[in-house]
Amino acid sequence: MTSASGPSAAQLFPAGFVWGAATSAYQIEGSPLADGAGPSTWHRFTHTPGRVLTGETGDVTCDHYRRWRDDISLMRELNLGAYRLSVSWSRVLPEGTGRINAKGLDFYARLVDGLREAGIAPMVTLFHWDLPAALDDRGGWLNRDIAGWFAEYAQVLFRALGDRVAWWATLNEPWVVSDGGYLHGTLAPGHRSPFEAPIASHNLLRAHAAAVQAYRAIGGGEIGLVVNLEPKFPASQGSDDITATACSGAYMNRQFLDPVLLGSYPAELPEMFGEAWPSFPASDLEAIRQRVDFVGVNYYSRGVMRHDSSVPPECAVRVQQPGAVYTDMNWEVYPRGLSETLIWIKERYGDVPLFITENGAAFADPPVAEGGVCDPLRVAYLRDHLRSARDALHAGVNLRGYFVWSLLDNLEWNHGTSKRFGIVHVDFSTQRRTPKDSARFYTEVIRTNGAVLADDEVRPEGGP
Ligand code: BGC
Repeated sequence: MTSASGPSAAQLFPAGFVWGAATSAYQIEGSPLADGAGPSTWHRFTHTPGRVLTGETGDVTCDHYRRWRDDISLMRELNLGAYRLSVSWSRVLPEGTGRINAKGLDFYARLVDGLREAGIAPMVTLFHWDLPAALDDRGGWLNRDIAGWFAEYAQVLFRALGDRVAWWATLNEPWVVSDGGYLHGTLAPGHRSPFEAPIASHNLLRAHAAAVQAYRAIGGGEIGLVVNLEPKFPASQGSDDITATACSGAYMNRQFLDPVLLGSYPAELPEMFGEAWPSFPASDLEAIRQRVDFVGVNYYSRGVMRHDSSVPPECAVRVQQPGAVYTDMNWEVYPRGLSETLIWIKERYGDVPLFITENGAAFADPPVAEGGVCDPLRVAYLRDHLRSARDALHAGVNLRGYFVWSLLDNLEWNHGTSKRFGIVHVDFSTQRRTPKDSARFYTEVIRTNGAVLADDEVRPEGGP
């Protein structure tokens, strides 16, 4: 409740809380082959008929590669304190290793400098799904050598930008890379193999650790891993549903965090994968357990799971919740799950510093009218999730910042531009950017350091 003297301390976010927005290279940049860049797996994937539902590619998308200066001005208008971007590996190293493409590296140096001049702190993700195609030709995430390739690429960036970037994220959502890219084939490189997925996951973990190790020798800032998490609930109290829920949690939520933070895989995984579960040298797990400075959490929804043996390895499917609100991705809006997830991390893994590195929603927005876009569902989504983040802070979680997904409507991977997550609307035929009501709301959240979230908690006297 806001009193005449302003919101109480309990309602505010801590001083220095980081307020940002996030994007990724392939989703917004366009010009994927400009200035000597090599193709990525995503370039190949989108140029393969049938892979993207709308038939779109990342050739233009938000044209950020050419419009980055304007986009920084936009970020300044929105009052962002931080911006999470990703680097396209094949712009910097067109063959994935070896020769450095100075023009590609320069693009990111100018972007980082421009952000800093605008007072916006960059958080840089090294890998947000666009692997150099040249490395995919050598086996991609299935080749054990990729840990060394990734560390080499990471070192190039640490040396070039390490003095200007305080926060590095190694990988974005390795679970999605493995599950979508190697098990179900819906994302690049489009493989469908239960034998490949755990190998890809394991090499993603090894690569993450190799980059962290490289950073310790060079960098003076912070480095962490970004994972997507969702609390899992059984659809019923039947033992099948409860087991399926545990398996689903092991697969999605613990497959990466357990090895990094505890040094072992969840016990469920070898059983779930059966003979597809590979054997690894024991020393791998010791190497993977490198200290991280933070964990980035991408949170969108929860999973209410029902047993279904026809979909191994999880043997679990999602159940729709009657009466719940669903986004355009068909994801249930479940704000409480954000604080539940953050508190779960603290309870399971200890007091690791956390960022919410992505949170947001796709809704079918109305057209731009009178210079704005009315997106009340997204405003409500953000408000309720931010309140949930604040609840986690008050429960003692070491939460350092929040990045909304996404700054701009963009290429939503295999959905093309049909799903709009931006707080800023993008007209893809003119490239005009129009802040939505959600952007105005978020700017106000930032300006008041969250105090505005308390506003409509005022209850009439005698109310519940
Ligand atoms: C990814 C983003 C994606 C978003 C919405 C996350 O899985 O990191 O690239 O656009 O969720 O699907």
